[in-house]
Parts: sequence; C-alpha cells; structure tokens
Amino acid sequence: MLSTTIEWVSLLVRWTHVIAGICWIGSSFYFMALDAGLKHHPRLDVGVKGESWQVHGGGFYQMQKFTVAPDFMPDELVWYKWEAYSTFIFGFILLVLTYYLNPTRYLIDPNVMDLKPWDAVGIGAASLLFGWLAYDALCRSPLANKPAWLATVGFALLIAVFYFYSQVFSGRGAFIHAGALVGTIMVANVALVIIPNQHKTVADLLAGREPNPAYGITGKNRSTHNNYVTLPVIFAMISNHYAFLYSSKWNWLVLGAVFVGGFMIRHWFNIKHTGETPDWRWWPAGAVPIALAAALTIYLQPAAPSSGGPQVAFGDVQHIIGERCVVCHSAHPSFPGIAEAPKGIRFDTPKLIAAQAPLIYAQAVVGRAMPLGNVTGITEEERQALASWYGQGASTN
Ligand code: HEC
Repeated sequence: MLSTTIEWVSLLVRWTHVIAGICWIGSSFYFMALDAGLKHHPRLDVGVKGESWQVHGGGFYQMQKFTVAPDFMPDELVWYKWEAYSTFIFGFILLVLTYYLNPTRYLIDPNVMDLKPWDAVGIGAASLLFGWLAYDALCRSPLANKPAWLATVGFALLIAVFYFYSQVFSGRGAFIHAGALVGTIMVANVALVIIPNQHKTVADLLAGREPNPAYGITGKNRSTHNNYVTLPVIFAMISNHYAFLYSSKWNWLVLGAVFVGGFMIRHWFNIKHTGETPDWRWWPAGAVPIALAAALTIYLQPAAPSSGGPQVAFGDVQHIIGERCVVCHSAHPSFPGIAEAPKGIRFDTPKLIAAQAPLIYAQAVVGRAMPLGNVTGITEEERQALASWYGQGASTN
C-alpha cells in the first residue's frame, strides 16, 4: 500500500512538473519568437522598439515592446515566473523521490563508483549549486561581452561536468543530473537575475526615475541562454527511458553532442522568427552532432550474439533470471520498496522469460541497466550466458 501511495505521489509530481515545464518552455519559445519578429515603423510611439501583429484563436493581437520600459507604470502587469518556479520545485521533488530517497536504486552504480548513499546525494545536490555559481560567475566575467566565446567556454565546462557525472553516478543518474543542473541554472536565471532586474525597473518607474537599460539587457541575455538549452535539457530528461543512451562509457560525449545539436537547432528557429531565411548551415548542421551521437551508441553496442558457441541450457537461464531478476520482476516481488512488477515485466514462468528474451537481452546485456544498480550481483559470465541464449534462439529447452 505504501509503495503504491508513493507511486501516486511520484506520478502527480511528475505530471505537474511536465505541465509547468511545457508552460515555461512554451513562453520561452513564444517570447523569443515575438522579440525576433518585432518590426519597427515610424508611426510607433516614442520608446516603442517594435511591433508584431498576430492572429490566434479568432482574434488579432497588437504586441509592442518598449525599449527599457514605458514612461508610466501600467495598471496591470503580467509576470512570467511561476511556470519556471513550479517546474523547478516539482522537478526537485521528483529528483528526491526517484533518486535521493533511494540512491542505490538509480543513482549509484557500484561498477562506476561504489558511493555511500549520502555521499551520492551530497555530490548530486552540491553539483547543482556549484554549477549555478560557476555559470553565474562566467556571465559576470569579461567573457559576457563575447557571446560566441561565452557559449564555447560554457559548453566546454558543461561537457566536463557531464564527464564528471559519468565517472561518479550510474548512467541514468548522470543524465538526470545533467538535465537537473541545466534546469537549475535556468530557474536561477529567472529567480535571481531576470525577475529581480524587472523589479528594479518597476521600482524606478514607480519612483519616477529613468530605468537603467542594463537591467533589461542582462535579463534578456539570461533569458536567451535559457532558450538555447531548452531542447537538450528535455532530451536529458526523457533519455532516462532509453538505457542504450546512458549506459555506454562514452555517455557524456553522447549527451554533449546532443546539447550542441539542440543548441544549433534552436538557433535556426530563432533566426527564422526574425523573418529572415536562416542560414542553411544551422538546421542540417544541428543534425550532425545528433547523428554522431547516434552513431557512437550504435558503434559501441556489444556485437550481436552469435548462434555459435556452447549451447546454453534454458535451465541455466532460468536459474540466472531467478537469482538476479525475480526479486523485482514477479507477480509478488520480494524486493523492499517494489510493490508490483516494474513496468509490468514478470519472469515467473519459462513462457514469460522466453517471450521477453529481446527485452532481457536489451536491458541486461546491451544497456546493462538491469539488474537495477546490479543489486542482485549478476556476473559477466551470466550476462554472457543470457546473450548466447538469446543468440541461439531463446528456446525453453
Ligand atoms: C531491484 C529491482 C530490480 C531487479 C533486481 C531487476 N529489475 Fe528490471 N526493472 C526494475 C525497475 C524499477 C524497472 C523500471 C525502470 C524504469 O522505470 O525505467 C525495471 C525495468 C525492466 C525492464 C523494462 C525496461 C523498459 O524500459 O522497457 C526490463 C526488460 C527489465 N527490467 C529486465 C530485468 C532483468 C532481465 C533483470 C535481471 C537480469 C532485472 N530487470 C532485474 C527493477 C529491477
């Protein structure tokens, strides 16, 4: 009962996290496109930088952007912040529920580093904080005036952090921390830079002072950084469901390549929304790092099992599965905290085992995601036996 309740909490938190994220990223896409599409013409009021006419849902909208701010304080002002804050809050709860409450399950892989549970949690949580401090320091350094350099150094550091994660956490834990790190930087940009700067501008307006344009420029820069990492950050989050991605030893490079590709694709859209024809190089070029990432994972896959070699008896396979998998994958799991067979996958009978041979091969041999955190201590020989059995036709004889 308790674990089903926890599953419900986790599901509701995940649901909220995803919906808030859609709202946040949706508004990021919308405002970047709006900004890019603003047109200036002489009949605009003084202080208006540009205008965009839009049609949506049966009505016409006339959007105008002021350079710095209007010279009066509007009666009502809509702020965009809670979609960012709630994405983070619910995302962090999810991180705690899925990874930190039970680090041996998804976060620690003894084959990578045999961390103590609290050390793993400490490293994970501290890395989010230090990641933000390092990024913020970079943005306040002289590099800030050289966007191309800032992006290059920023990406190099990010990939170094991915490498670090890959050396301490399970592949899955590494990928979720990569996503969480960038997500944390994004929300800190909103909470600690963009919104406070907007408050300063509003305070100036209310006091009848001329607002400082620097606040708006810094806010826009941080908001642009956020926009450029939206695609890869979502990739890092959903990659958790694809063991082949995160389980290779080059997983950090795979993710790094996807970050570069996602950045380039976003750039293509940002140019397109200005009304210009994007430079052809960006969008197809963005597909190149992603294709390289795919090629790397395909190349690194263990060779397909051959049908040759000594015949593996089904009895041996059943024994391995019984020892290493059935504590969780059974109608009545005995593993603490697992109330029902994960993802409905059960290996209680020979028929069930044989029917799921491709999945067993994918998870226990190719992806090595199973047994979870290798809590049941499967050996290399046993993995090899599963591979050979699969290659020999996965029979139940
Ligand atoms: C400690 C519990 C545990 C053990 C032991 C375990 N698994 Fe799993 N397994 C899980 C959990 C939890 C999931 C769901 C993972 C997720 O949500 O991504 C899962 C998922 C799976 C999936 C579905 C993956 C997918 O995303 O489609 C397969 C297949 C699988 N396990 C096979 C195995 C095999 C084969 C073994 C033994 C070699 C094994 N498991 C041992 C807990 C376990």
